[in-house]
Amino acid sequence: MPGIKLLNIVGARPQIIKSSAISRAIRKNFSGEIFEILLHTGQHYDREMSDVFFDELEIHRPDYNLGVGSAGHGRQTSLMITGIEEVLIKENPDCVILYGDTNSTLAGAVSASKLHFPVIHIEAGLRSFNKTMPEELNRIISDHSSTLLFAPTNAAFKNLMSEGFRPENSPPYTINNPKIYLTGDIMFDNALFFAKLAEKKKGELLNRLSIEKDNFVLVTIHRDMNTDETERLSDILVTLKSLAEEKQITHIMPLHPRTIISLKNRLPELYKDLSKSKYISIIPPVSYLEMILLEKQCRMIITDSGGVQKESHFFKKPCIVLRKETEWIELVTNGTARLVDADPVKIREEFLNFIDLHPGLEYPGFYGDGKTAEFILSEILLMFEK
Ligand code: UD1
Ligand code: UDP
Repeated sequence: MPGIKLLNIVGARPQIIKSSAISRAIRKNFSGEIFEILLHTGQHYDREMSDVFFDELEIHRPDYNLGVGSAGHGRQTSLMITGIEEVLIKENPDCVILYGDTNSTLAGAVSASKLHFPVIHIEAGLRSFNKTMPEELNRIISDHSSTLLFAPTNAAFKNLMSEGFRPENSPPYTINNPKIYLTGDIMFDNALFFAKLAEKKKGELLNRLSIEKDNFVLVTIHRDMNTDETERLSDILVTLKSLAEEKQITHIMPLHPRTIISLKNRLPELYKDLSKSKYISIIPPVSYLEMILLEKQCRMIITDSGGVQKESHFFKKPCIVLRKETEWIELVTNGTARLVDADPVKIREEFLNFIDLHPGLEYPGFYGDGKTAEFILSEILLMFEK
């Protein structure tokens, strides 16, 4: 086969969505030059955590699905490493693309680098500086196994430099002589591309959820620190319930399955109370088009998600971040995102600060020009030019 054979590895919801930007750019600008194979580790498997995105976002269908599913970190990652290694040996791709910071990213980095396949890391350099987060270890190991590293923000690029990566490296690039780039964010490419398409679903979605523009708060919670520490989960949800009722504003909560499982097992009484509350609407995860519509239509966003934090900026909404720190530090410096941890006092303070519409807030373009995927693919092609 002429051209470059690229193995795209995804597994968790945000990676499936990210890969859509790369798939689309290959189809549009690089067909005949870059050939994509897609490996899904199966880390996420519920329809609304996986298939819905393939159906809706025209992503290259998985050529391989390892069907790994849920397990502890060790078992899950080791099953992925074994499965990815077999596919690498069979397919012998020119390079491997990894996204973000999940266990699927880590497994891809370990399998590919040990077999000497060049690793390309999209969303490189992000750091929370909290190594108790599983994602932080995944990021560091993936970056240090990579040959091309695409940092989406200035902060991420600086982090790579402070870990010894050198922007002045010249070709040929290898794991020992990697190249770092400052690019935009491929999720901004996606937001621009899909926001218009999503509009078609607006009337139906708002009707179905009985909500109106600017008259609801959008909430997502899924980080292990918030789902698996009962006190944190309780503090967050009790505080949000009381604020929702006090201000009489609906909170739409498309919750990750792990949050629902945790609520049912650890806090069954609170789960019942929330389900009865007029102003709390817990719903299953929504599709990406529905999610960006909710982000565009809501009054503000409360989340512990990395992706949703950024999307709050794309759609110019204030954001309360249910964490102590964030990798997307420019949002906090900009004043449009506030870190509240799981502290009821801070949640309340920032909620009251943001709940009234703030025309004064500004949302500068931190995340590129919407053509980041094209740039990344052209740099990959350059690496293989003879
Ligand atoms: C993973 C990533 C996290 C990312 C998130 C995106 C790691 C270590 N974490 O977290 O960085 O932000 O994906 O959503 O890779 N479950 C289901 N159905 C599914 C998938 C999961 O019910 O389709 C439940 C299972 O109970 C499972 C739990 O969610 O044990 C956690 O899933 P897992 O993939 O281990 O981690 P996430 O919390 O999804
Ligand atoms: N998302 C979605 N449906 C939902 C919740 C999130 O499509 O019900 C999208 C969201 O728009 C963003 C991505 O999933 O693009 C973020 O994934 P997640 O919050 O699971 O993980 P993180 O970004 O924190 O790793």
